[in-house]
Amino acid sequence: MINGLDDVVVAETVLSDVDGQAGRLVIRGRSLEDLLATANYEQVIALLWEGFFDGLGDIGPLLGAARQEVFQHCRFVDESLLGRPLLDGVRALMARLDDGSDLANALLLVAAPAVFIPALIRRQRGLAPVPPDPTRLHAADLLRMLHGQPVAAEQAAALDRYLVTACDHGLNASTFVARIVASTRAGQTSSVIAAMGALKGPLHGGAPGPVLDMLDGIGSPDHAGSWLEEALARGDRLMGFGHRVYRVRDPRAEALKAAVQQLARSGQVEPGRLRLAEAVETAALDLLARKKPNRPLQTNTEFYTALLLEAVGLPRDAFTCVFACSRVAGWIAHAREQLKTGRLIRPQSRYVGPIVRSPSPPTHSTEDRAQ
Ligand code: ACO
Repeated sequence: MINGLDDVVVAETVLSDVDGQAGRLVIRGRSLEDLLATANYEQVIALLWEGFFDGLGDIGPLLGAARQEVFQHCRFVDESLLGRPLLDGVRALMARLDDGSDLANALLLVAAPAVFIPALIRRQRGLAPVPPDPTRLHAADLLRMLHGQPVAAEQAAALDRYLVTACDHGLNASTFVARIVASTRAGQTSSVIAAMGALKGPLHGGAPGPVLDMLDGIGSPDHAGSWLEEALARGDRLMGFGHRVYRVRDPRAEALKAAVQQLARSGQVEPGRLRLAEAVETAALDLLARKKPNRPLQTNTEFYTALLLEAVGLPRDAFTCVFACSRVAGWIAHAREQLKTGRLIRPQSRYVGPIVRSPSPPTHSTEDRAQ
């Protein structure tokens, strides 16, 4: 038995390849760096979905129209949703969508988190949700719906870079869940909602909020070493470090660090915040190399994700939802691929419970026999 399924191959995919030794991510034959230099999120969706849906065309207007359609569901936001963690609220609203299997349903599923995240945040703040503008790019429109007005081009571009970076990543836990659900022939909404449950955990998509908590706890670069050492001594994991597959630096961390540095150059990140993050990163890598010498632990995607999402004005309890906002395109592509090429996923477990004992002969009372 392989606890955690390390190195077990359970699917063939044309979608993405995570090369953990080389620190390389390839999405449909294109390196992450190439995609970031040439494509926006809408174009990456088209790339991921190519061959899995007919009539794809230009995703931008289709996705804009889907955002408008999804916005109608904002009238179902009530107090019970506002008191819950944001991911739970977004998931509950998404569960209202048909459990479909066509392109229209797939577009609604991609549109939904981008519309529901700002709507729920605004309602929590006592503000009315802002309707989508279908002519804008997905990232720019999400931030416009959140802030109630268009944001600086640099901020919209940074969120777009994030959406491209996080769109797909091999058979991570949530994508595996999406494929398992698709293998039962349930609809796309079921796959996506199940995947969101897997994403929520702090070992997967729940890490970036705690990264900011860690930075706040450390407070200043001089405290980084001692604070981190105490955290490790308590048995805590350092959020934003380590990965199951990457044995060298996560290329997404590299890309997002560059995006954050770009934001800092345009004055959108406070220089002290970036200095603190860089000092914490250096101290954490040094400490992990000393304390866990047998396990190469590098910065993962969540570390600079946290800084980027903070810089575009998203609150930290929205970070996992924004991850879902990007990864939903990958989940749907994998669900489609599973339907096209796979079978029902049904692995086995080894029973290690008590052994079967031979039943002892029943002893019946006179009354039992009479019944
Ligand atoms: N801080 C401290 N120690 C760590 C860390 C960390 N961030 N990551 C791994 N380790 C240690 C473990 O304690 C363990 O040590 P031990 O052998 O002395 O007991 C060893 O490294 C191996 O740990 P595993 O849990 O087996 O490694 P795995 O490959 O399953 O872990 C994971 C991957 C879950 C991401 C882990 O590195 C972690 O918990 N990181 C912190 C949370 C995080 O940043 N999550 C986001 C991941 S990226 C994403 O999902 C998009």
